[in-house]
Amino acid sequence: MSWSQIYNSCYQEILKELTRLDGIAVGFNTNVDAIIEFNSTTILELIGKVGLDSLSLYERILKWKGAIDKPADFVVGLCGCFEKGKASEWLIQNDETYHYLLNNLPIPNSFRIGGQAGIMANILAEFGIQQVIVHTATLPYQLTNLFLKKKNLVIPYYDKKGKLTFINPRKLKIKDQPLYFHIIAEVKRNDTLHFGDTIKWKCPRDNRFIATYDPPNFELQIMDAFQKDIEVIAERISGFIISGFHMLEQKRLGKTGLIEKIDTIVSLVERAKKQKPSLFIHLELSSTKNDFVLDQIYKNSKTGEYWDSIGCNERELIELLRAIGEKKLANDLNKDFQQENVLLGCLKICEKLNLKRFHLHQFGCYILIVSKEHAIDRELHRNSLCFASLAATEKALTGEILQAYDLILEQPAFTEKFSKPFRELAKHITASETYIKANFILNGFAETPEYLICAIPSIIVDKPVFTVGLGDTISSTALAAELALRKKYMKNKK
Ligand code: GLC
Repeated sequence: MSWSQIYNSCYQEILKELTRLDGIAVGFNTNVDAIIEFNSTTILELIGKVGLDSLSLYERILKWKGAIDKPADFVVGLCGCFEKGKASEWLIQNDETYHYLLNNLPIPNSFRIGGQAGIMANILAEFGIQQVIVHTATLPYQLTNLFLKKKNLVIPYYDKKGKLTFINPRKLKIKDQPLYFHIIAEVKRNDTLHFGDTIKWKCPRDNRFIATYDPPNFELQIMDAFQKDIEVIAERISGFIISGFHMLEQKRLGKTGLIEKIDTIVSLVERAKKQKPSLFIHLELSSTKNDFVLDQIYKNSKTGEYWDSIGCNERELIELLRAIGEKKLANDLNKDFQQENVLLGCLKICEKLNLKRFHLHQFGCYILIVSKEHAIDRELHRNSLCFASLAATEKALTGEILQAYDLILEQPAFTEKFSKPFRELAKHITASETYIKANFILNGFAETPEYLICAIPSIIVDKPVFTVGLGDTISSTALAAELALRKKYMKNKK
């Protein structure tokens, strides 16, 4: 079978099975993204406005501060992402800078639901999963109206009599709450920026820089219903996707506060699993600047198997490796993102964190590692990845989840022009003695004694309408597809 045929054969069954999946919960960070399309002209204007010269801009990019105290820091982060083609999110440290940016940046092109939980909730509800339970720290009107108007998308809420109800967020009658936009600065591939004598950049990749000021999410505030009735929620779902640790702010909470917040989530997960031992917990990473937060998360992963699965992108892979003590590998990858080391890193993470599943959604090639005890038919794992790639392609092309995959697949045979990372991975696996494999380039399968490795050449979209949220689309869709296929597989096995 060619990759085009694999792609063509993967999605009908999954679309059907998804509507049979009972439920998924997604927590914890939901917000409104204000999407601003930047180009070299608007960036240059901004550089002028905050008064940076080319030398200091260059030096500050090299330092990569990772936080925004003053408007100039925003410009530094944005320019760094433009130059290097890397995605990053920096937290804004004060109210004054946040308001300066809102008042001085170009007017947003659109407002969309944001945060891992928000984005994933809408996507999964669109696929017709029977119930998608979403968590949100606050419900300002503008955010409420960005949730899909679908019966299967609900939040748990106590009615006036104190009874727990599951209701679409748009149906709730509550007072408006404070709204904090996440500023999503999108930049386009091949845009060129010339500044002074020294700066001549060509943006290598469609990408975004995120600036966030969001006090409720900085504190990882948890809704009452999730705290008090997590057992009831657990009963209704097969999968629980969690995220939001990346926004925890040490300045606000102190080290003890941070530990407390992470422990709160861990104990919720523990209670949910106790109630329903088969519940599958997935942690979706988001680039985290605070090493202490990372240490705490992985300390928990090691000791108690709180998460069964982790999903991340290239940047987060490096951060995760650093946090679990694989500093050399992380540094090597930081210098040169070679697929040999990427695969090694993915396997190390599974071993050290005792994971059942690990999914890297890198640009052009997804890698999934599944422990053999947890694996189902290998084709089913691989098909769920192809399905996720189709969903992300459609989202990148249209901004929506329309499920018109036949139209996408009618396009020229993109899947036969393998991306560079897939080719490089295939070359390495084929030549290596470490992996058991046959025809990896054609089927994407390899093995170690403990793990099944699946990889696919993912579809690359030339001019995405925006890039924010594509990683979340891939992770949540692949996971949901796998849970749905697993359900069918287990039923057939009985
Ligand atoms: C982070 C950002 C959020 C964005 C999301 C996309 O959570 O805070 O604004 O929508 O990433 O993945």
